[in-house]
Amino acid sequence: MNDSEFQGKTVLISGAGRGFGKRSADCFFKKGANLVLTDFDDAMLDKAMAPYTGHNERVVGLSGDIGQQQTSVNAANLAEKTFGGLDIAINNAGIVHPQARLDVLDVEIVENIIQVDLLGVFYAMKYQLPLMMKRHQETGEQCNIVNLASAAGIMGSPMLSAYSAAKHGVVGLTRSAALEYARKGIRINAVCPAFTDTDMARNALHESHHGAEEAERRLVANVPLNRLAKIDEVVQAILWACSPKNSFYTGQALSIDGGLSAF
Ligand SMILES: NC(=O)c1ccc[n+]([C@@H]2O[C@H](COP(=O)([O-])OP(=O)(O)OC[C@H]3O[C@@H](n4cnc5c(N)ncnc54)[C@H](O)[C@@H]3O)[C@@H](O)[C@H]2O)c1
Repeated sequence: MNDSEFQGKTVLISGAGRGFGKRSADCFFKKGANLVLTDFDDAMLDKAMAPYTGHNERVVGLSGDIGQQQTSVNAANLAEKTFGGLDIAINNAGIVHPQARLDVLDVEIVENIIQVDLLGVFYAMKYQLPLMMKRHQETGEQCNIVNLASAAGIMGSPMLSAYSAAKHGVVGLTRSAALEYARKGIRINAVCPAFTDTDMARNALHESHHGAEEAERRLVANVPLNRLAKIDEVVQAILWACSPKNSFYTGQALSIDGGLSAF
């Protein structure tokens, strides 16, 4: 990947306040992209935007809950108004629920997971795709969507059933949309990480009744590479999926999981 690989491209990233979203923003910016960054945590978004002070012409932010349709409408409008369209979307914002057997999971928690992790991706694509079809018609270049699914989106995940169901849904949305838009110049893929060393995973480990250290040991014992993934190991896959050199790659669920799904 070269340093101007995404020069002049407009990239919309949800959940850009921390974790994969924040790091992806950093990488796309360094490779020349304009950014529309969204998050529902204002303080985190402000902090993530701080390094771009002085680059207002290339980076804009939007506060909003991705589980609400209007946030995706606003984000698409902001991309069009500020940068004249949209080339790449990283639908990354997501949440996980506390580990629990299905019969003791609260219905409200499950509804919220589906709202954010599954419907949030549907709303996002619904308003991104028209902009991308227009962009492709104007430029002849491919547009790209990457949805953050999970290893839990292609495998059963005990104690994470609602999260796993939502992420399986994201993989289904991704594959189906990829088929619908392949001939309209839009490549659509999912990235499926196993547990990665972000705040989301660290918080989940700390909530474990085994204690964080023992919970991590148990978790990685199932992973052939025997550790958590690093943020950059996942983010490079996100960028790779969007690379213009990767022009024949669509409709895939790309596992970055230390070999977990090879069993
Ligand atoms: N970290 C992992 O182990 C892991 C593994 C597989 C998949 N994933 C997926 O990757 C994505 C990012 O994970 P992460 O580890 O970087 O998480 P994270 O919790 O570190 O960061 C997620 C960001 O999304 C934002 N966000 C959460 N809910 C939102 C909402 N409703 N509206 C707007 N913004 C919201 C948060 O404020 C935060 O800034 C998620 O979809 C997650 O499910 C993570």
